[in-house]
Amino acid sequence: MIRIAVAGAGPDVESTYATAAQEAYVAFPAPYSENPADLLGRLNGAPAPGVIVLDSRTDLELCLGLAGRLATEHPDTVVLLITDQAETLGLRAMRAGVKDLVPAIADTQQVTEALHDAAHLAKKLAAHHAAPQENEPTGRVITVVSPKGGAGKTTVATNLAVALASAMPHSTVIVDLDLQFGDVATALNLTPQHFLPDVLQSVATGDTIAMKTRLTLHDTGLYVVPAPDHPAAADSITSGQVSQLLQLLSREFAYVVVDTSPGITDHTLGALDQTTDPILLTTLSVPGVSGLRKVVDTLSVLQMFTDHNHLVVNFADTTHGVSQKDVDETLGVPVETSIPVSKGAPASVNTGVPLMQSRARDPLVKALAPLASRLLPDGVDLDKRGRVRERKRAKT
Ligand SMILES: Nc1ncnc2c1ncn2[C@@H]1O[C@H](COP(=O)(O)OP(=O)(O)OP(=O)(O)O)[C@@H](O)[C@H]1O
Ligand SMILES: [Mg+2]
Repeated sequence: MIRIAVAGAGPDVESTYATAAQEAYVAFPAPYSENPADLLGRLNGAPAPGVIVLDSRTDLELCLGLAGRLATEHPDTVVLLITDQAETLGLRAMRAGVKDLVPAIADTQQVTEALHDAAHLAKKLAAHHAAPQENEPTGRVITVVSPKGGAGKTTVATNLAVALASAMPHSTVIVDLDLQFGDVATALNLTPQHFLPDVLQSVATGDTIAMKTRLTLHDTGLYVVPAPDHPAAADSITSGQVSQLLQLLSREFAYVVVDTSPGITDHTLGALDQTTDPILLTTLSVPGVSGLRKVVDTLSVLQMFTDHNHLVVNFADTTHGVSQKDVDETLGVPVETSIPVSKGAPASVNTGVPLMQSRARDPLVKALAPLASRLLPDGVDLDKRGRVRERKRAKT
């Protein structure tokens, strides 16, 4: 059981949290310093709780400082803040490593949901740190994640996969992990015979040859694992199966590109567990960027936030009062790729021919080609229409 410690809960919220956390509840007095040891020392040597809720209404600065120290010193611990400034505090709290803000006026059901999500994440973190992966995979696993729907994950994933596959034949497989509404097959104009559950069956038996026969081949030489053909099938797929699939594929392919559903679902966490190159995708909107900050925090805590992260802004010329500099500063990572609005993108989905395949003169192709080039080996480089050209200089 993940223990949920609530520190300094005001009298108006105390019983709500005690009820919501049930037997996992541990009451702490208000923290008096930013040093986690001062708080956790009160446990008399018992391990740190998986979830720590700080009532920030008495001393916000102290709670933010403490949250920051907990994030680095106890990365398995998930910190929530009780606040009456949820509207304005968002980005600052996320930067301090807080995973969620719970309004002080939240009712028992809302608090139960917030604690449930936090405990779930804490469990994942504990499991991840307890069992590091063996058998390092050989290929690169490139997972496109975005907290919000419609940011362009499928567009980026399919075009990037086509670019890699075209540059290096038989090098690339794309996996559609948008399990309920995946549209990778449609974006590639494929009518698959086999879907993710079929491929997983052969993964379970460890039969690599059978697994490969269940991949769908696209005209560009790209292999495809389409999402289940029925949304209900998603329920029976576990994150462990997703991890196992990607591990196996990464031994067979140089590039495994993964499209995901919005947010960080269990399945996406399973994919991130095997990911070498997360592509963090956002639009220039406040919800998009603050959501992505949470993604960055999750990756950091899972120690998956490495030099191989790629921050991509889509619809980059459609700002909603947010600049690329704001994104850099909020996320602490420079924007690597900016994709402007492309007139051809929506039409390419309808025709099922990705812009990278049609070698279109298009801003999306021009923006994604350098990203693909950086993923490709030295000496293989794409020009602004996605065509292979000889690279003159060595890669860094
Ligand atoms: N740079 C762009 N310029 C113009 N249109 C774009 C661009 N990127 C994506 N689109 C269009 O935006 C729509 C949403 O893109 P896409 O399906 O790739 O997003 P998504 O993040 O995968 O969405 P979902 O969360 O629903 O899976 C599509 O119609 C796509 O053609
Ligand atoms: Mg999509």
